[in-house]
Amino acid sequence: MRAVLAQATAVGLVLALERSMLALKRQQNLDLQRRILDNLNSAILMFDHGLRLSYLNPAAERLLAGSARQLLGHKAGELFLNAGPIEQMLTAALDSDDSVTRRELELELMHSNRATVDVTVTPVLEGTAGSEVLVELIELDRFLRITRDESLYSQQVVTRELVRGLAHEVKNPLGGLRGAAQLLAKQLDNADLQEYTDVIISEADRLQSLVNRMLGPSTRHALRNTNIHEVLERVRSLVSAEVGGRIMLRRDYDPSIPEMQVDREQLIQALLNVVRNAAQAIPAEGEIVLRTRVLRKCFVGSKRHPLVARIEIIDDGPGIPKEIQDRIFYPMVTGRAEGTGLGLSIAQNLLQQHDGLIECTSAPGHTVFTLLIPIQREQ
Ligand SMILES: Nc1ncnc2c1ncn2[C@@H]1O[C@H](COP(=O)(O)OP(=O)(O)O)[C@@H](O)[C@H]1O
Ligand SMILES: [Mg+2]
Repeated sequence: MRAVLAQATAVGLVLALERSMLALKRQQNLDLQRRILDNLNSAILMFDHGLRLSYLNPAAERLLAGSARQLLGHKAGELFLNAGPIEQMLTAALDSDDSVTRRELELELMHSNRATVDVTVTPVLEGTAGSEVLVELIELDRFLRITRDESLYSQQVVTRELVRGLAHEVKNPLGGLRGAAQLLAKQLDNADLQEYTDVIISEADRLQSLVNRMLGPSTRHALRNTNIHEVLERVRSLVSAEVGGRIMLRRDYDPSIPEMQVDREQLIQALLNVVRNAAQAIPAEGEIVLRTRVLRKCFVGSKRHPLVARIEIIDDGPGIPKEIQDRIFYPMVTGRAEGTGLGLSIAQNLLQQHDGLIECTSAPGHTVFTLLIPIQREQ
């Protein structure tokens, strides 16, 4: 009797052990699947039987420029501006029980973004509550964009060095020039002649401040935990005061952006330069949108960071003049009679000190300056 009991207990133990091994194995499998999905460069979307979004991986969040929290539960029509082709593919896949592929589909995304993608839609019949549909999107212009960013980045590093070198060369003799003019002024008896030395001194001062601006802020930056929206609100109120009621400054903030380590004053300066440009570009009345989003696993230049803040400054002005569009980040490039052409080069410089980047796209009525700043940096 005892032997039988012992045997039964042993069998029970073995069964329990097997069950927990199985559970462990399943968990490990799930972890592995999650890791694969998270690191995939293709965007993966899952729609439930009601054709509402039930899953998306980080690449899809990046493509759709939204977080899972914002996007889950939405129908395709609410995710894409031109959802027609994708909706057709969803129904075709469900009707035929087979996957459907379309190449080089031009997607119009929210916030006037676009992407060219290869799309595959596959019905998944294992679900308990009717069939689900899996959508894979492979972004075709993505690789193009990464390499373009990279060359933009290195180009800017070179220009910055060039400008700094030049500015230093000009700065030193300026001090001597000014001092000499002051000495000369003291020696002059004729007050009329002093007018000339005054011109030398004031022009030397003007050049000095120009050169200082070209060199950018000399203080090493003071990184502090900063709420990006506080920075944007400062910029918004400063520019609002300058433009009066002429331009509407609308905010579209993503409250889920965590605090980030930045130099607050430098970031205010960079944003101020960009938002002021937008305000100056709008001839009469118009609108500037300040938009923030958080992106996971996003490239800035050639480096991929786990978490990146994206700030977009969008205006409905006439756009950047065609002839300077490729050069606006260079110093001394300006489209305005009274411009210095330093605003954007300084802003770019400040962003680079945060491992960030500014880029821009422009068409009449829709100009977007995008600032990318890593929140969590790559180790
Ligand atoms: N939002 C914008 N819309 C149209 N043009 C712009 C915009 N932002 C910048 N630009 C163009 O880029 C040029 C360079 O800007 P910036 O470097 O700030 O120098 P500045 O403002 O002194 O001219 C501007 O003169 C303008 O022609
Ligand atoms: Mg400017």
